[in-house]
Amino acid sequence: MCGIVGYIGERQASDILIKGLSRLEYRGYDSAGIAIANGKLEVRKKKGKIVHLSNDLERAGISGKIGIGHTRWATHGAPNDVNAHPHVSSDGTFALVHNGIIENYTALRESLSSRGYNFTSQTDTEVLVRLIEDVQKNTGLSLGKAVRQALSQVEGAYGIALVSGEDSDMLIAARKGSPLLLGIGEGEYFLGSDAAPIIEYTKKVVYLNDGELIIVRRSGFKVFSVEDEALDKTVHELEWDLEQIEKGGYEHFMLKEIMEQPSAVENSMRGRMLDHDPFVQLGGMMDSIEDLKNASRIILCACGTSWHAALVGEYLIESLARIPVEVEYASEFRYRNPILREGDAVIVISQSGETADTLAAMEEAQKNNVPVYGICNTVGSTIARETKAGVYLHAGPEIGVASTKAFTAQVSVLTQLALKLSQGRTLGDDELKEYVTEMKAIPAKIQQVLDSADYVKEISQIYGHASNFLYLGRGPNFPVALEGALKLKEISYIHAEGYPAAEMKHGPIALIDESMPVVFLAMQDSSYQKVLSNIEEVAARDGIVIAVTDANNGDLDALCEHVIRIPKTIELLSPLLSVVPLQLLSYYIAVMRGCEVDQPRNLAKSVTVE
Ligand code: F6R
Repeated sequence: MCGIVGYIGERQASDILIKGLSRLEYRGYDSAGIAIANGKLEVRKKKGKIVHLSNDLERAGISGKIGIGHTRWATHGAPNDVNAHPHVSSDGTFALVHNGIIENYTALRESLSSRGYNFTSQTDTEVLVRLIEDVQKNTGLSLGKAVRQALSQVEGAYGIALVSGEDSDMLIAARKGSPLLLGIGEGEYFLGSDAAPIIEYTKKVVYLNDGELIIVRRSGFKVFSVEDEALDKTVHELEWDLEQIEKGGYEHFMLKEIMEQPSAVENSMRGRMLDHDPFVQLGGMMDSIEDLKNASRIILCACGTSWHAALVGEYLIESLARIPVEVEYASEFRYRNPILREGDAVIVISQSGETADTLAAMEEAQKNNVPVYGICNTVGSTIARETKAGVYLHAGPEIGVASTKAFTAQVSVLTQLALKLSQGRTLGDDELKEYVTEMKAIPAKIQQVLDSADYVKEISQIYGHASNFLYLGRGPNFPVALEGALKLKEISYIHAEGYPAAEMKHGPIALIDESMPVVFLAMQDSSYQKVLSNIEEVAARDGIVIAVTDANNGDLDALCEHVIRIPKTIELLSPLLSVVPLQLLSYYIAVMRGCEVDQPRNLAKSVTVE
């Protein structure tokens, strides 16, 4: 949500900033802008996608070797040129970009207005700019110290970066709640709100923690704490490669990431699954497994697709390990005064590791002295750093806004966790071995599902004009129905709902007519006969049925318009396969409708505001 990039060195900053912004565009695409310091400050910003800004710069470039850039996902103020970042101080001496929300901006704005400051935009960011100016004016402090003092008056979340027109050898950045990292090159530094704009130049990075401020010069950088003390920071090595964040011949990141699922799931298991004791080894969590086994309750907190993975996790952990699980929307958790008791354990699940709602849920649990564990994809993210222990997905970077491979990798990790929690309690060695063997076969089975992509594409061409879709599933495939509906909504803008199949008769059946496709997850599992009855009920009302079922199932051809066959697996593992045709269906429908698949309207990857 909003992307920040910065550069200081000997190259032309605008080239690096524009490239970096393009790599960050998945974080927001309402407007983009850059500020370059070259003896003075030059700012260029444009509504809309980065291409508008880069076209503008091609017509008339800005020379200079230090600068900051921003791609915006609008919160305060419409997406237009004026509200676009960077925002510049009244005297034109410094420019600032911001990710996050200044929650007390109304009070600050009123106070600053009453003291004669003018505002040209509706953003909370401009309030921070004026506040820094005010501190500078009243105290005569250096820009770095004035930023620190201004930030102490701010409530909310921010990742910010500043350049000064008066000092072309200084980049300032600070964070609270919004990620920022510094890439270390040879005599040059790169700033990013994630690793994507940095990875092309260096793998050496320093992660900023909440409350920290960094001053970067060509000769080096210094990080300061909230108390203004200089800190020693560890330099980390990025694990991702440049090719992982490029499209690699695919038309869209989403398709690339759908197709990468065999390797994403394989990587999520690599070195972790054995067909003999100890069967599952989850490095980072091993010291906590006994505590989790003894937990009276495990609470899984997440948002969106990760919340759907958590629902699958509930089936897995309760069925296999017989430990009570509750699944919470992270966005609701903190605000409903949750009952957290001794013996509870919270697991937060997040692709980005930076979702503001999920971080807030994590903090709520920590405040109540409940241990919090993390399942996340992004190495070095806030969740990775601030949970007691955790497991990485190792799915590789996910750039498409619609989450796909992260979901299957999350379900894979949750399966591994459920198996580990079952060991020595509810599952014997033979059963564990059976699950491990089947899990190892899953990547090849996902590949088989992907091999039928053309058939799913054909179906998409027939129903891509529908206005509504219904997705129905039972047991572990109920969350898959929710996920199928979410994928369709977010990238093709078709209204879709997911329901437990048996709930259909309690209401949604009224929607069935000859124009609404109903997608059934109808694997031949313990609830198959019931789902079959539900399919009959839809067919009897002339509904259009698209069924996802097992490879050898011939029952459904007469009843359903289309039958998508996927390889057979153990019931609890079937979401790893059944979700894939639903991802493909939404992808092909969105393409057919001419939608911007990787950058759906109003959305952004990584929602870092509450
Ligand atoms: C949907 C999607 C979102 C995310 C949600 C949580 O395709 O991508 O619903 O799943 O914003 O994001 P993470 O997993 O990064 O916490």
